[in-house]
Amino acid sequence: MVQVKNICCIGAGYVGGPTCAVIAYKCHHIKVTIVDLNTDRIAAWNSHQLPIYEPGLDEVVFERRGKNLFFTTEIEDAVNEADLIFVSVNTPTKKSGMGAGFAADLVYVESATRGIASVAKSSKIVVEKSTVPCRTAESMRTILETNSTGNLRFDILSNPEFLAEGTAIKDLLYPDRVLIGALQTPEGRKAQQALAEVYANWVSTDRIITTNLWSSELSKLAANAFLAQRISSINALSALCEATGADIDEVAYACGRDARIGPKFLKASVGFGGSCFQKDILNLVYLSEQLNLPEVAAYWKQVVDLNEYQKKRFVERIIKTLFHTITNKEIALLGFAFKKDTGDTRESAAITLCKHFIQERATVRIYDPKVADEQIFLDLTEPGIVITRSPYDASRNVDAIVIATEWDEFKELDYTRIYKNMKKPAFIFDGRLILDADKLQKIGFRVHTIGRKE
Ligand code: NAD
Ligand code: UGA
Repeated sequence: MVQVKNICCIGAGYVGGPTCAVIAYKCHHIKVTIVDLNTDRIAAWNSHQLPIYEPGLDEVVFERRGKNLFFTTEIEDAVNEADLIFVSVNTPTKKSGMGAGFAADLVYVESATRGIASVAKSSKIVVEKSTVPCRTAESMRTILETNSTGNLRFDILSNPEFLAEGTAIKDLLYPDRVLIGALQTPEGRKAQQALAEVYANWVSTDRIITTNLWSSELSKLAANAFLAQRISSINALSALCEATGADIDEVAYACGRDARIGPKFLKASVGFGGSCFQKDILNLVYLSEQLNLPEVAAYWKQVVDLNEYQKKRFVERIIKTLFHTITNKEIALLGFAFKKDTGDTRESAAITLCKHFIQERATVRIYDPKVADEQIFLDLTEPGIVITRSPYDASRNVDAIVIATEWDEFKELDYTRIYKNMKKPAFIFDGRLILDADKLQKIGFRVHTIGRKE
């Protein structure tokens, strides 16, 4: 049995950082070193202000940092020392060239793999943590075996990550399952067992699933496709609700009470965001097309198309309601992150909304409790936005409020105070179904909620 004593994680991002910090937290006997090319990111991981906001992350990092958890840009040393290396680099959608707009860009996975091959002086278990197209492990193996010197062995595992941002630490401490795929050879199974032993320090063995490599790679894309599909399904139904007078929360509840359907991930919204759903479905679409399965590709593509439609539909409803023009009007946008409890804005629906509002020459007054101002300026380079420090400041003298992120604090605001300071009629558009519409109507607001008729 190989016993893992030293782990290196390449990529100190939203996945590599929290995942490997939790391994260090739960396995004091393992030295964990997280490396990245980005010196600012590593400096932040070594400071008091960690580079990402995640509830519970500070406690985990501050407890183990400097003991068995290290962050460094000295990639070579960390790779050399490690028996097991996680590759947790970004795999964004390609922007140009073959497969542009669909395929995952594997340039970072390849360069990390080549980096391992060029410096490794001993055999390693190399683990795909990044979300990759099915059969990427085969390319990694070839690169490692043909570029290393000496008689080294590389066992490749697939161990996709299922954490969601905002609940990453909870998801890592109490995962529904841990998935480890390996080649079904004696060596592959040995490596699979070695990684399973690491997780077994805190995850019960019935939750550790072992499969072949390709099932593991595909399961990650499949799981995200299923989750996003549920959101597009409920959002498609929300359009029907608005047209008929059915209430989407009631429909979701009634359907979700069927144990076969289940209640989770049925919250209608202004559209899903985040760095992965769209990217991973497009990746699946591309894979299906490459395998000459156009009907399969079209099926999954519709999940993303419906998501775009949902955002556009919400914008159109806002413009129509505001007397068919928002030019020179002011709109307060509450929430900029792609979901609550994160400062991450990647693919946030809020960005799409703002761009539409600005195109119509409205001014957008943005408030988000966690997103940094610099991030908003990176996401929106257009003029016409004002960043504010509180929801009260954001909504002062505006024509309408738009709820784009479901932050808990938006449920508890003093809406009577907000109403007094707004232009009349005072409109509020709830893109997250978090507000008490009856209460707001009593104050005087005109309330429009996704999935409900006005
Ligand atoms: P990220 O962009 O936050 O982090 C990736 C890091 O890798 C960056 O800091 C980058 O500098 C670093 N990097 C890239 N190439 C490198 C190299 N050759 N050597 C050293 N460092 C290198 O990305 P992320 O959100 O952590 O996602 C990583 C992977 O995990 C992606 O494949 C993603 O699909 C998957 N994933 C993400 C989430 C999530 O919630 N964000 C959840 C599950 C899976
Ligand atoms: C998602 C998956 O939930 C994770 O399991 C997966 O590991 C991760 O993608 C990944 O591969 O990156 P994440 O994107 O962090 O996690 O967050 P989710 O909670 O899934 O939310 C995604 C988007 O869907 C958010 O914009 C959220 O507001 C929206 N959503 C979610 C809804 O609109 N309705 C719902 O019912 C649930």
